[in-house]
Amino acid sequence: METPHERWSRLRAAIGDEPLPCALVDLDAFEANARDLFAQAREAGKTLRIASKSIRTPELLRRLNALGGATARGLMTYHARETAFLAEQGFDDLLLAYPTVRMDDIATLLGLALANKTVSVVVDEPEHLDALEKHAAQVNVRAKVVIEVDVSLRPLPGVHLGSRRSPIRSVADALALADAIKARPHLDLHGVLIYEGQIAGSTDRNPFTPLMNPAKRAVKLLSRPHVERTRGELAAALAARGHRLALLNGGGTGSIAWTKKEPALTELTAGSGFLDSHLFDYYRDLSLRAAAFFALQVVRRPAPGIVTCHGGGLIASGEAGVDRLPVPALPAGCRLIGFEGAGEVQTPLVLPRGVTLSLGDPVFFRHAKAGELAEHFNEYLLVRGARVEARAPTYRGMGKAFLG
Ligand SMILES: Cc1ncc(COP(=O)(O)O)c(C=O)c1O
Repeated sequence: METPHERWSRLRAAIGDEPLPCALVDLDAFEANARDLFAQAREAGKTLRIASKSIRTPELLRRLNALGGATARGLMTYHARETAFLAEQGFDDLLLAYPTVRMDDIATLLGLALANKTVSVVVDEPEHLDALEKHAAQVNVRAKVVIEVDVSLRPLPGVHLGSRRSPIRSVADALALADAIKARPHLDLHGVLIYEGQIAGSTDRNPFTPLMNPAKRAVKLLSRPHVERTRGELAAALAARGHRLALLNGGGTGSIAWTKKEPALTELTAGSGFLDSHLFDYYRDLSLRAAAFFALQVVRRPAPGIVTCHGGGLIASGEAGVDRLPVPALPAGCRLIGFEGAGEVQTPLVLPRGVTLSLGDPVFFRHAKAGELAEHFNEYLLVRGARVEARAPTYRGMGKAFLG
């Protein structure tokens, strides 16, 4: 087993004289995570859809598809233009998990359908359907839609624990939308998406907010029966009405240990777990390996035991908090300084006792979120052992920025 010091030395050797900052993927860890996640899906008799937002690098998506074999089924995408870009890159079975009524987006999606790509888009209200139906009728193509159902926990009136995504909350709501889809001649009900954000997206072993952990675990436990029941009942109710679904999707990296056991789900989604950004260290049911890093160089030594790195302020989205900062991972034991955090152009670090770093040495950081790291770099260096095996351009490196 490689020690943290050995890993730091190996990654330092691998990046050699590469210009810093740089981002890298340690392929052995990435592949081990992929084997683990795909095996969980396969052993449960399900396929796994890769969430592109958590990768944002076509070459890595290609490698994941190859590693997943028959268990890898399609991509979950986040923008219509991104969906078209991935289709151009050779991917198929694309599920756009975020609705849109904009004409340009819909035209893009329908263009893919006309080109015989399997493409579907999430809907959750009649207005979504109207926009799709109108344009699909104009170009005379059928559009595949996927109903998203909200399974947040609402223990008391006015309390909503879960993501704010869809207004469809019950089996009856979903059946009504399914009927509305059936009534529109150019729409086909392709599947159902039921993402349980309060479980998959909620850390429950978070060292930055330890007092919240028991409450988050309780929310997860209390949520499960409702989530499971809704998925099961909805699958049965749609089947009873003669709807034959191509997919019933659920879960994310943070919930895979549990969602894989749900009989109603035909497929699971995972993205972040492949690169294993640091937020995924804080889940009780997960043991993945850090696979993505960014390297900053040490440029100053402002005091004994403190070094200052160049760059660093890659802060993650979501509920603002200390856990959204990057963590200095290698050498192990380095700490950000509370007063400065991860800075815009420089980041001071307190070194652990016994560790010294020279000017020019790299420090390897982990981003809190897997996909966002790719927005800061043009490429990932793909590291095998102590050398760069290949380079993988990110969306950004390919000139693509889908979310602005
Ligand atoms: C619908 C949906 N499913 C699954 C996921 C989980 O992806 P990840 O494995 O990257 O957490 C997300 C992420 O936000 C999502 O929006």
